[in-house]
Amino acid sequence: MVTLKIDEMPVRVPEGSTLLQAAQKLGIWIPTLCHHEALTPTGGCRLCVVEIKRDTTSQVVSSCVYKAEEGLEVQTATEKIRGIRRCIIELLLAEAPGAKVLQDLARDLGVKPVKRFSPRGELCIACGRCVRACSEIVGVSAIGFAKRGYEKLAVSPFYERAENCIGCGTCAEVCPTGAIRLTDIAEGETAYAADGTTIQGPARIIENWKVALKLKTCKECGEAFAPENQLAYFSNKAGLPENYYDVCRHCRT
Ligand code: SF4
Ligand code: FES
Repeated sequence: MVTLKIDEMPVRVPEGSTLLQAAQKLGIWIPTLCHHEALTPTGGCRLCVVEIKRDTTSQVVSSCVYKAEEGLEVQTATEKIRGIRRCIIELLLAEAPGAKVLQDLARDLGVKPVKRFSPRGELCIACGRCVRACSEIVGVSAIGFAKRGYEKLAVSPFYERAENCIGCGTCAEVCPTGAIRLTDIAEGETAYAADGTTIQGPARIIENWKVALKLKTCKECGEAFAPENQLAYFSNKAGLPENYYDVCRHCRT
C-alpha cells in the first residue's frame, strides 16, 4: 500500500494504482476520454492531467497512467491544470463539434465555443478505445489507425472491408463520442454496405469498418439476436457444440 495526498486529502491505495484510481477513491472528479477501466491505459488524450509536487518541483502528468507514490502531493484542479484541460477540449471540440461528450465537458470546464480551428467532419477523436477493445477484449484486432496528428482516425485496414470484424459492436459500446455507425436491419430490408455490397436483413451494418454481416435468427422465438460471425467466433473459442447458438439466450433459459 502507498499513502499520498490528493487535494490535501490523504488516501491509501494498493501499490501500482494510478493517480486517477486514487482520486476516484476519494470521490474527486478528473475528466477522462481515452481512459476506459476495462482497457489498458495509454495516456493519449491528456485530459486527465494533474499536477504533482515533489520537494520544490512540480510536474504535470496524466493521472490515468501515472502510478501513485508514497508521500506524493497531487493537485487535480489548479489554474494551470484547468487551463490545459480547457485547451484540450477546445481543440477536440473544434475537430468534432457534434460530439455530445465534448459539448458536456466544454460546459463543465467552462470552454467557450471558438472558431480558430476547422472541424474535420468526423466524430472520431482518435482516443483508441475501439482499437484497444477490439484487440484486448474481443481479440480479433479488426481495426486500427490511419494517418497521424490532426488527421488520425480509427479505420478499417487500408480503408477496405475489415475482414476480421465479427460485428460484436464492442467498439461502438466503448466509443465516447458515438463515432461508430452501427445499424441493425430487420428481415425483409436491404442495406448497402460501405464497400458497395448489398445484404438482406436481418443484418448488422458497421459503416466505419465497411462490414455488413448476417444476424442469426433464434429457432424458438424468431428474433435476430447476434451476428453469425460473432457466434461462430465464440463457439470456436469456447469449444461449444455446433447447435449451441440455434436459440437465443432468452429461449435457452
Ligand atoms: S471511433 Fe470512437 S473509440 Fe474509436 S478512436 Fe474514434 S472516438 Fe475513439
Ligand atoms: S484519460 Fe488519461 S490521458 Fe486520456
